[in-house]
Amino acid sequence: MKSIRPYNKSEKKKIQIVNMFDNISETYDLLNLILSFRMDYIWRRKSIQSIKNNPKKLLDIATGTADFAIMAAKYTNAQIRGIDISDKMLKIGNKKIKKHKLSNRIKLKLADAEELPFRNNSFQAITAGFGVRNFESMEKGLSEMHRVLDKNGVLVVLEPSKPNKFPIKQLYNIYFTYILPLLGKLISKDKNAYTYLINSVNAFPNKNIFLKKLKAAGFKNCKHTPLTFGIVSLYSAEK
Ligand SMILES: C[S@@+](CC[C@H](N)C(=O)[O-])C[C@H]1O[C@@H](n2cnc3c(N)ncnc32)[C@H](O)[C@@H]1O
Repeated sequence: MKSIRPYNKSEKKKIQIVNMFDNISETYDLLNLILSFRMDYIWRRKSIQSIKNNPKKLLDIATGTADFAIMAAKYTNAQIRGIDISDKMLKIGNKKIKKHKLSNRIKLKLADAEELPFRNNSFQAITAGFGVRNFESMEKGLSEMHRVLDKNGVLVVLEPSKPNKFPIKQLYNIYFTYILPLLGKLISKDKNAYTYLINSVNAFPNKNIFLKKLKAAGFKNCKHTPLTFGIVSLYSAEK
């Protein structure tokens, strides 16, 4: 996958990603709500409901402002850990966890998905919402998820994808090329962030390639489910 970076070609991708998410952290939730017409909530709920192994411990990778972790607390009985490399996203996540009175169920930690600070086979489920695309090395990130997942544990990954059927494809292209960058720029005041979003979605591997990457990282029963006419992909896999 071509390395798409938010601000420039010279600085390490990871540093730029931290800066970008720190910059947009205050407006991230609002923009998510507006840009996805609140469908992000439905996508996360569907992903969590696809986890059928009643996990004791669940890890939310690239947890950001903790929406996936909070959803997991609602629909599972698991103890939840969330990790992210952006301290500012986590700070907002922690406030929301307190507000939802979930501090006894969810613990957040500043950590890199490509070097997870957990022992092998620690979790029965892992979720990763809209994060994998931002990794410096996707292979490293996937292999770390596989390492910390318990035998027969479940992984679910959500990523935006490009629909390929008329007329959704055409509508999506108009929205993605003209409306989303404008709204992103107006609300978040970081024009690079939403150009990066578009470029990184365009550069993300198609479903067959991503399924191959999951298999190469050691996962079995790798599946792809298109959500909302294929504008988002739900990947699931087992260790
Ligand atoms: C688009 S946000 C998604 C947040 C949340 N999962 C959600 O569903 O709203 C992507 C998050 O990935 C985090 N991220 C990117 N690369 C990471 C890495 N290598 N390790 C941990 N988190 C990472 C960013 O800091 C950011 O908070």
